Amino acid sequence: MNKIRLAIVGCGGMGHRHLYGLAELHRAGWERFDLVGACDPVAENAESLAEQAAEHFGNRPTVVSNLDELAEVGVEAVDVTTTPRYHHTVAVETLERGWHTMVEKPMGLTVRACNLIRQAAAESDAILSVAENYRRDPINRLAKALLNAGVIGHPRFLIHHTVGGGDRMLISVWRHQKDQSGVLLDVGVHYADMIEYLLGEIETVYAKTRLYEPIRKNPAAGGGGSGSNPAGVYGRWQKDMPAEFEATAEDAAYAMLTFKNGVIGQYIEDHAGHGQGFWTRQIHGSRGSIDLPSDRSGGTIALHIEGNEVVNDDRLLDLVPDFHLDAVTVDLFGGDRLWCYDFPFPETDRKIIAIEYGDFAEAISGKGTVEVDAEQGTRSVAVSYGILESGETGRLVTIDEMLAESVDAYQQSINESLGI
Ligand SMILES: NC(=O)c1ccc[n+]([C@@H]2O[C@H](COP(=O)([O-])OP(=O)(O)OC[C@H]3O[C@@H](n4cnc5c(N)ncnc54)[C@H](O)[C@@H]3O)[C@@H](O)[C@H]2O)c1
Repeated sequence: MNKIRLAIVGCGGMGHRHLYGLAELHRAGWERFDLVGACDPVAENAESLAEQAAEHFGNRPTVVSNLDELAEVGVEAVDVTTTPRYHHTVAVETLERGWHTMVEKPMGLTVRACNLIRQAAAESDAILSVAENYRRDPINRLAKALLNAGVIGHPRFLIHHTVGGGDRMLISVWRHQKDQSGVLLDVGVHYADMIEYLLGEIETVYAKTRLYEPIRKNPAAGGGGSGSNPAGVYGRWQKDMPAEFEATAEDAAYAMLTFKNGVIGQYIEDHAGHGQGFWTRQIHGSRGSIDLPSDRSGGTIALHIEGNEVVNDDRLLDLVPDFHLDAVTVDLFGGDRLWCYDFPFPETDRKIIAIEYGDFAEAISGKGTVEVDAEQGTRSVAVSYGILESGETGRLVTIDEMLAESVDAYQQSINESLGI
């Protein structure tokens, strides 16, 4: 089988993490891609990725700074891991060029940016996949199987709460800027995707939002301390970021969600918490409830059924005899029916990114469709901005209004800055 000629476009933190994911996929026996290009206007970042790719694959991808140069290298597929402001400009162009395109979350910086990508995908023969990783965690697969099997009866309500962060920078300065993908979008799209994956489509959102910490602090500035640094790749950039900077994006949201199937959700995403930090995702149903571990932790699901002891071990699998992970996940995680796993975070991270690449490769080869398509990628962005639009207008908004761009007061200035 011919390998798919691939380039990584955007060679910062996630570009490097995707490289490690690709290497992990190949190590697991799924050698489906030939990484031929590393594209970034910051030459140092592209060179770094190319250097590390050479160590992993034995071949050094060509370093380029833009898509025209990439066309000369000759690619069939691109993996877009740029900062979110460029997702739509890059993805629309790559789809128009007929290159299969996998784009990191958030699919676009606003709903309008997503709709532009959605339209380009509809008009292209090339495949568009959204690299949304959390749902591919084997434990989230098990949670979905348990819900489908009706172990908690009919789902009634969701509690999703995450609180912490204080006034510290989350990974990078841009994650605190409204016009570059504030934290409620950056993290929120993951949760929106997970919640719809587990419970179906959200119909309405009502929220209050806040910007509690207008000055954020970067403990890693100057190379002294360490800050939020998933998979350990961000330190080299964080040392050169300012020690303090102004944040323009809201950092906390308190929301009520309703779902098309009648489920109600209480959602707190507070990235400015100074007290006891916590993370909760619970789903309560007509027979019982499940308490989920945080994404990519490998922790266990706890099932509570009235009158029974809590089930939080391999007995969960007895309740879903037909539950099997897909072939790529099995080869990466070493089992087709997992209820827990235990890897250091960077290893879990790259295994889950490898699953995204596996899904993308299978779709390119005509074996099925991608799991997270342009519709779902757009929905997740619409839910996250639905929370911000509701906070802005003080009223309940529907996700249909969000998708139709008929509610966009909050996003207007961002769209203007993008020229769309
Ligand atoms: N799924 C996850 O768990 C996860 C985690 C982190 C980041 N992300 C996503 O990955 C993307 C990148 O985030 P990051 O943390 O790597 O950011 P980053 O700032 O570390 O890196 C972004 C890179 O994109 C490059 N870039 C900007 N414009 C470009 C263009 N037009 N063409 C090519 N390269 C360009 C920058 O020079 C930089 O090297 C974001 O969309 C982010 O939300 C996802």
